Amino acid sequence: MFSIYTASSACPDFRALTDWLVREGVPYTEKDLSDRTVLKHIREQYGDCVAPITAIGDWFASGPFEIQKPKIEAKLGQIGGAGSIAGPEVQYPELHIPQAKQVFNIEPGQTILSAALVKGIPYPHCCRSGQCGKCKSRLLEGEVSLLGHTEFALSEEEKANGLILACCAVPKGSVSVEWLGPHHEKPHHSERRLQCRVAAIDTATHDILRVRLALDGQPFSFSAGQHARLSLEGLPARDYSMANRPDRSELEFHIRRVPDGETSSFIHANLKPGDSITLEGPFGSSHLRQEHSGPILAVAGGSGLAPIHSIVATALYLGMDQPIHVYFGVRTEQDLYMLDHFQSLVDTHRNLRFTPVLSDQPTAHYRTGMVSDAIAEDLENLNEWKAYIAGPPPMVKATTLVLAGARLQSRNLHADVFFTPEEHPHP
Ligand SMILES: Cc1cc2nc3c(=O)[nH]c(=O)nc-3n(C[C@H](O)[C@H](O)[C@H](O)COP(=O)(O)OP(=O)(O)OC[C@H]3O[C@@H](n4cnc5c(N)ncnc54)[C@H](O)[C@@H]3O)c2cc1C
Ligand code: FES
Repeated sequence: MFSIYTASSACPDFRALTDWLVREGVPYTEKDLSDRTVLKHIREQYGDCVAPITAIGDWFASGPFEIQKPKIEAKLGQIGGAGSIAGPEVQYPELHIPQAKQVFNIEPGQTILSAALVKGIPYPHCCRSGQCGKCKSRLLEGEVSLLGHTEFALSEEEKANGLILACCAVPKGSVSVEWLGPHHEKPHHSERRLQCRVAAIDTATHDILRVRLALDGQPFSFSAGQHARLSLEGLPARDYSMANRPDRSELEFHIRRVPDGETSSFIHANLKPGDSITLEGPFGSSHLRQEHSGPILAVAGGSGLAPIHSIVATALYLGMDQPIHVYFGVRTEQDLYMLDHFQSLVDTHRNLRFTPVLSDQPTAHYRTGMVSDAIAEDLENLNEWKAYIAGPPPMVKATTLVLAGARLQSRNLHADVFFTPEEHPHP
């Protein structure tokens, strides 16, 4: 019998799924995903996946109903389930990526991007959720269904011209696809896996720790704005952005405690100097473009200040002298940090402006409101600007929309959305 895991029986996908199974006479049991023990079991068995999750033995399907339905039909076909919907066994379609010289089978319902990343193909991407346009690709052959995305990431005109977003494209059959542009402007640093020692930990705010890792002479080069994957034994690996300039001998990370977050909560409760952490990377393409000579907008939400600091400090260190506007969006004063440091940079660099914006606390000391609204008020025309954004999904999404309205070109947007990838819904 199928088990269906959901955190809320009001979830529309859960309801669509169970209504359909009832109609087809397929038995199932409901399991409560908001129970931490159940959630832990699911993560151990299937990794991180989007609810609702339908499972039987070690087989599972997850995410929206329309994505799960063909998988469940196929599974019923294999196990001889409800005769009314058990069709012939499905042939998994093929994904062909000529640039990677690879052809492989893709699971029904999987997006092109996730299938490519699972295969270790360095497919260009950033938000993985249809917001940034970094995974824009040309569909060479076949048909896809496109999940929700913003107009900024992919316009109707681009769609009409055969472009798709790999992170939102679910193949309807075998497809051939190529990403746009050169190898996604990814900087050429060797990806490494290193064992690092925690050199120091200090408190930046009530929920952000500043963690410094000693490289002890091991080589690790990266471009300002990139991130690394940190793993601690027994915990899921998570991405964290380097906050320091690349020329420093230690790596600095700003780690926010996410309520009920597995890895960040453990780090906050238990990590101590001397502990060992496995570091992989560097990854990401939202790095400082040194060749850009136009103005720069750098927007951070919460611990998004880490990559934004790395980018801004590096730009100033390299003598980039165009206007650089930094906006730091937080909820209340207790979320602000590194203010003195940014003030000292402002004091010594006439091209730098630094604007903290508080969303939930009216005060005479700082700008208040949403950081995206503050930018909209201050900057009308961002044509030829370069924008770097890092922080939580709603802030990145709102800011991206404002920037698109201010005529920022999508090639000039470099965004890092701080989330645990598989759990981030499409807009
Ligand atoms: C490219 C990249 C760079 C990143 N850099 C940083 C960084 O420099 N500093 C940093 O603090 N984090 C950063 N993150 C986020 C980080 O990787 C983890 O997602 C985060 O620490 C939560 O992991 P966790 O295991 O504690 O929580 P999980 O166990 O993964 O999540 C627990 C619950 O919290 C929700 N959740 C996950 N992330 C968030 C969030 N950001 N806000 C609110 N709810 C959330 C989940 O949906 C889930 O319901 C980055 C993410 C990416 C993709
Ligand atoms: S990675 Fe696909 S739109 Fe951002």
